[in-house]
Amino acid sequence: MTIQTVDPRALRDAFGAFPTGVTVVTACDGDGNPIGFTANSFTSVSLNPPLLLVCLAKSSRNFATMTGAQHFAINVLSETQKDVSNTFARPVEDRFA
Ligand SMILES: Cc1cc2nc3c(=O)[nH]c(=O)nc-3n(C[C@H](O)[C@H](O)[C@H](O)COP(=O)(O)O)c2cc1C
Repeated sequence: MTIQTVDPRALRDAFGAFPTGVTVVTACDGDGNPIGFTANSFTSVSLNPPLLLVCLAKSSRNFATMTGAQHFAINVLSETQKDVSNTFARPVEDRFA
């Protein structure tokens, strides 16, 4: 199946039928500036060793910084933080303003 054969609206509706938690994954670039993006691909993997999984699109402008960072944080959003989720999913100038 190629992407051309998939109705984007139908796919979005199908994916949207599966409720997930929403997180904002944050890190700092080499100059100490914070970066972050909204992610619902977060999942716990293992307690020992401590492992988690987050999928980040290779097309993200934060990809190189995020995958090269020494540390990162997973900020678990509450259902009242839709504005935060939207801010960290949109190409705004300063997501931390
Ligand atoms: C609810 C929600 C969940 C998202 N989950 C992911 C995700 O798991 N991985 C991902 O790469 N993008 C995800 N996105 C999209 C990114 O947040 C967004 O496309 C990305 O931050 C684009 O900006 P960037 O190029 O600055 O990273 C999600 C967006 C929303 C609204």
